[in-house]
Amino acid sequence: MSLREEINKEKIPSHVAIIMDGNGRWASKRGFSRVRGHEMGVDAVRQSSEAATELGIKYLTLYAFSTENWNRPKFEIDALMKLLVRSVNKERKTFMENNIRLLAIGNLKSLPAKSLTELMKAIDDTSQNTGLNLVLALSYGSRWEIVEAVRNIAQQVAGGFLKPEDISAGNISSALTTASIPDPELLIRTSGEYRVSNFLLWQIAYSELYFTPTLWPDFSKEEFYKAILDYQRRERRFGFTSEQIHKTKKRLFN
Ligand code: IPE
Ligand code: IPE
Ligand code: MG
Repeated sequence: MSLREEINKEKIPSHVAIIMDGNGRWASKRGFSRVRGHEMGVDAVRQSSEAATELGIKYLTLYAFSTENWNRPKFEIDALMKLLVRSVNKERKTFMENNIRLLAIGNLKSLPAKSLTELMKAIDDTSQNTGLNLVLALSYGSRWEIVEAVRNIAQQVAGGFLKPEDISAGNISSALTTASIPDPELLIRTSGEYRVSNFLLWQIAYSELYFTPTLWPDFSKEEFYKAILDYQRRERRFGFTSEQIHKTKKRLFN
């Protein structure tokens, strides 16, 4: 049986988030420039988007550029921003053919004007598509996002629209850039690093975490299926006991 056939169609996560890491190491190992690694990473984006589409996953969020990545050498930042424009333009046809809707989260205002224009064009063109929501996290940082949300809520309080005692987890979720997106059930990080690097800190409170040593450009469809299978073998307890979870399942399914 192939890996894909082993996947339980009844237990597909609705949102998978990925920290796409290891492009630089992939390139260095081969004596290439880091930029070449990023270029090869675009193929892996295609692989994961295809796999997600085939499985009927509704949201795939990809961490493409963090607020901290602005500290990288200018040459690398420029190359990444150019690659973004090129890839978005190149993939537009595939997005339409596969009913993919492109979205973006992050401090988009900080992107170079050309990158932002092209990105917005692709978001606009695909806005009526109803298949996979492909969410690019660009100039994204969870702490930046939380600061923005706190500012927004503080303004509502200062304006008399919201009482401090009425602030709820729901208010906070709605003030984040992911307001319209469900929390990810599964977070994948490639390249063998065991950290979250300022990604979706609030949203991953109960996500299953999957770490793989595979470097991002090598993360194929099969690797994606492996992560989904691993997720399906886990028991999500949300603070309850295993026994309680089993009882609830019995009640729900009998
Ligand atoms: C991930 O690969 C892509 C971005 C952060 C833009 P890296 O560029 O971080 O690759 P490594 O971690 O140096 O190998
Ligand atoms: C995380 O990777 C950010 C992205 C994948 C865009 P980094 O390579 O920037 O993270 P650190 O520096 O290893 O934590
Ligand atoms: Mg890295």
